[in-house]
Amino acid sequence: MQTLILGIESSCDETAAAVVEDGARICSSVVASQLDTHAKYGGVVPELASREHLRAIVPVVRQALEGAAARLEDLSAIAVTEGPGLVGSLLVGVTYAKALCFALEIPLIAVNHVEGHIISVLLKNPGIQFPALALIVSGGHTHLFEVRRIGEYRLLGKTRDDAAGEAYDKVAKLLGFGYPGGPIIDRLAPYGNPRAVKFTLAKMKGNELDFSFSGLKTAVLRWTQERDLSAEIARRKEMKHPTLEEWLTATPKPTLDLLASFQRTVIEELLRRAMASAEQIGAESVLVGGGVASNAGLRNAAKEQIGLRFYFPSARLATDNAAMIAAAAFPKFEKREFAGFGLKAQASLVLA
Ligand code: KG4
Ligand code: ZN
Repeated sequence: MQTLILGIESSCDETAAAVVEDGARICSSVVASQLDTHAKYGGVVPELASREHLRAIVPVVRQALEGAAARLEDLSAIAVTEGPGLVGSLLVGVTYAKALCFALEIPLIAVNHVEGHIISVLLKNPGIQFPALALIVSGGHTHLFEVRRIGEYRLLGKTRDDAAGEAYDKVAKLLGFGYPGGPIIDRLAPYGNPRAVKFTLAKMKGNELDFSFSGLKTAVLRWTQERDLSAEIARRKEMKHPTLEEWLTATPKPTLDLLASFQRTVIEELLRRAMASAEQIGAESVLVGGGVASNAGLRNAAKEQIGLRFYFPSARLATDNAAMIAAAAFPKFEKREFAGFGLKAQASLVLA
């Protein structure tokens, strides 16, 4: 008999539910984005996020079941993201999952969101050899883990300040490109000269596999302050759902050069440390997960790295989703690692 797990994810600003069979076959994956709610504030507003989750959770779960042609009674277990994330957002998913499990008398499985991002890569590339390196880069995380096997992780490095996606979002906000910043900077970067602006980054003291992106963000701010960009920034802020052509018309060459140089610097930082970590643990495979794994510049640059093979999730599974949560729960289901009804949302949950 197949194991059918319903995954629920509500750690940040997407309400997601998915049904996954035997940890590998995605029967349905529904993601309700709150982008429109948060875009005007230039970032996620936690109180609004919780309210939107409350509104969306029941229809999203219903849609996931319908998409999988499954009934609640067909489920073997329910998996939910217990952390890390925004506590008010996590609580909606955790509470709903608990209530469903209680009513259906089926097991509840708690999943770490960051492990979900690692598993999202394996869903697309099931045959990866271990030990592998995982680089998880999103709006909330920038982590390097040794993956000895599924479920066994060791933290090698992490960001000391901003996450990579957060740096994208802050730079985009500063320059009037709206939220989220990663996708638009990624689309505009090929139109600029990546070598035009040189950023000098502070050398890491202590663990050389740690990251720091706040200095880069400050350098972009300084670059902006040294020029008068107020007119072009104001113009971009006025635009409603612009096309790529419209963005390009509203973005002079020096700003395109800045974006290209910023993107090049972030990618170089990520790849340099990924290479060093992989060498340290003797890994030949690198799993890249999280929203920044969608970055076209990063995907292209990764292809050119010698001696290492990079694996990415499918585009739909790079950003937050519940299929990765349901899939990550399957090995725990097999080991009967179930959560009790005392399960709490944990904003700062660590993986390793
Ligand atoms: O994984 P995710 O959906 O949520 C978190 O767990 O944070 O990642 C969202 C982040 C945002 O910061 C967004 O700007 C970034 O991923 N992102 C990108 C791209 N697409 C999304 N960053 C760079 N390039 C992209 N193409
Ligand atoms: Zn995420």
